[in-house]
Amino acid sequence: MTRFLSRVWNDPACGSLNHDTERLFAYHQATKHTYHSVRVGARRLDWHNQPNPFRTYVGAPSVALPAEPEFPTLGTFAAMTALAGKTSAPVEFSSIHSESANLAWLGRLLWHSMAVSAWKKVQGNAGRYSLRVNPSSGNLHPTETYVAVRAFSGIEDGLYHYRADQHALELRSRGSWTQDLARGLEIPWAAESPIIMVMTSIFWREAWKYGERAYRYCCHDLGHAMTSVLLAAHALGLQGGAVAHFCDLRLTRLLGLSESDEAPMAFLVFPSTDETRKKSAEISTVPVQPFAGIPNELSAEEVRYELLLGIHASSVLVDPAGAVPRVLAANLVESGGRRPILPGPSRDFALGSVVRRRRSALDFDATTPPMSREELEQLLDYATRDWLADWRGNFDGTSSTPDNAGTDFVTLYLYAHRVRDCEPGVYCWDRDHRKLEQLHVGNVQRVTAFLSLEQSLAGNSCFTVSMIADLAEAARVFGNRGYRYVHFEAGAIGQRLYLGAEALGWNATGIGAFYDDDVHRYLGFLDEGQESVDTSVREAEKASIVMLGSPASRAAAKNQKANEFSPLISESGEEHPSNRKQVREKPSDPSLSRNPGKLPSQVIYHFAVGRAVPDPRLED
Ligand SMILES: Cc1cc2nc3c(=O)[nH]c(=O)nc-3n(C[C@H](O)[C@H](O)[C@H](O)COP(=O)(O)O)c2cc1C
Repeated sequence: MTRFLSRVWNDPACGSLNHDTERLFAYHQATKHTYHSVRVGARRLDWHNQPNPFRTYVGAPSVALPAEPEFPTLGTFAAMTALAGKTSAPVEFSSIHSESANLAWLGRLLWHSMAVSAWKKVQGNAGRYSLRVNPSSGNLHPTETYVAVRAFSGIEDGLYHYRADQHALELRSRGSWTQDLARGLEIPWAAESPIIMVMTSIFWREAWKYGERAYRYCCHDLGHAMTSVLLAAHALGLQGGAVAHFCDLRLTRLLGLSESDEAPMAFLVFPSTDETRKKSAEISTVPVQPFAGIPNELSAEEVRYELLLGIHASSVLVDPAGAVPRVLAANLVESGGRRPILPGPSRDFALGSVVRRRRSALDFDATTPPMSREELEQLLDYATRDWLADWRGNFDGTSSTPDNAGTDFVTLYLYAHRVRDCEPGVYCWDRDHRKLEQLHVGNVQRVTAFLSLEQSLAGNSCFTVSMIADLAEAARVFGNRGYRYVHFEAGAIGQRLYLGAEALGWNATGIGAFYDDDVHRYLGFLDEGQESVDTSVREAEKASIVMLGSPASRAAAKNQKANEFSPLISESGEEHPSNRKQVREKPSDPSLSRNPGKLPSQVIYHFAVGRAVPDPRLED
């Protein structure tokens, strides 16, 4: 097996590139999809070399977890509320230090966050493949999960790998792993944690299909996975958050991954309570033992993707990583420090069953009745609520209060197609004031489908979202590392949209594929003048896709004054409001908005919600 990651760790420059943020923008630019790039760059998939979606450690002792375990009846939106860590955890299994700190508890947690949950038939032959609780682009599942436990009954202290195909834990190493991880992470406040979870990424699994762009998807995947675990843990009475600011080389070595194809990306830390502290005082600490088991080969050959490895290498941190750079919650300052609280959910559905039945829609049925505006706002509200993460500036072991709300780097732009009491068109979700701001009226179904790499589901949905990240600010504060964080954020928002939609009886799909700069042009972030927009329109039309506006709307657009840039692409042909409103923060250097590679705000994820068409491949 070729494990290219080890070259990153062995490079003397390892950890020194984080502040060269030209690299972040260069990677992002080079991995953008365009109408041409997806055609010119189309490759055949090497099915014989497809990476195994399941890791196992051959020879490691395996601990079976009970399948189909019970789960608290806590609602999905209630669990999302608990995620912010500002309410006491909803307690059904009381807390980790009681009887619940056992193997069965771990089984419940993983069954409802990272386990296999469904099967699909392969059309044309007798094959089948598995799907999991957590979604993953291409169902490729680059994220691996490890659990370090302390003082659980029925299982020794140690570091375990979660073997998703068997719902079992593989013992990697006995000993006081939670303390060692807390030291490695430079967070002494986590030393007495009963559990620390490690989430790694196998970039090759995703790159096999998506090539250089796969780094983005691996980070989305991490965001989905960490939210999946955190929600299940909160429902089980355990509060925690994410830590992603750490010295990569140090943690890679500590976890025995120096020669591996896995990179540690995030840690989920569940700090101790007063009672765990009392209990842990009685427990002797066993030094960590050598690793057991040999990782399985995922495919015959790993292909080296330079840009992907490059962005990862550019975002690793030095040793010691030191304190997380603090960032001001600018959005909160704007709203006077507090966000309005919307009314609680009008409907909710138990998280335990929602996560197990969640599926991505292949397409949406555009003939079903529309979603209500109340449902739409509920989804957006819960998906963008606070949660605890070190880069968000609100997870450092001190108690959480409403005043240490986390910082958001992602803003949601919405294409509303079929929502009652909401005119079709483009909106921005104002997260400070928890309301929709209308930017453009008109039927935007076809343009949304076009922008989403010509995927019809984005136009047949009730609404589709463009998640726009403030890349410039993330890079300024965190260096290239910020690239990971904004994608984690997008995944965390997406995961809550998935589950919220499912809880309300709708369906959803994450969309990692979109024409990046066409989204920027359409939303008015990229102001290259009319010619470029027309070029995009013409290209689409040449291929008879005709996703974009009617002749009338284009004619109307041509009459716009050159610098009065408004949405040019619309089927409605109506008079549009000036696009100026859409560019929330104009860059201080106006030339930036004309250079696609330097745009301060860029699209990083699309997401669609609607009523799924039946998927004949899904087994009962
Ligand atoms: C980051 C991400 C990007 C995705 N991109 C697309 C996409 O562009 N088009 C699509 O149809 N599905 C997309 N999906 C959905 C996946 O294909 C789906 O999650 C996967 O097949 C597993 O199915 P499941 O979600 O039902 O478990 C995406 C999912 C994620 C998490």
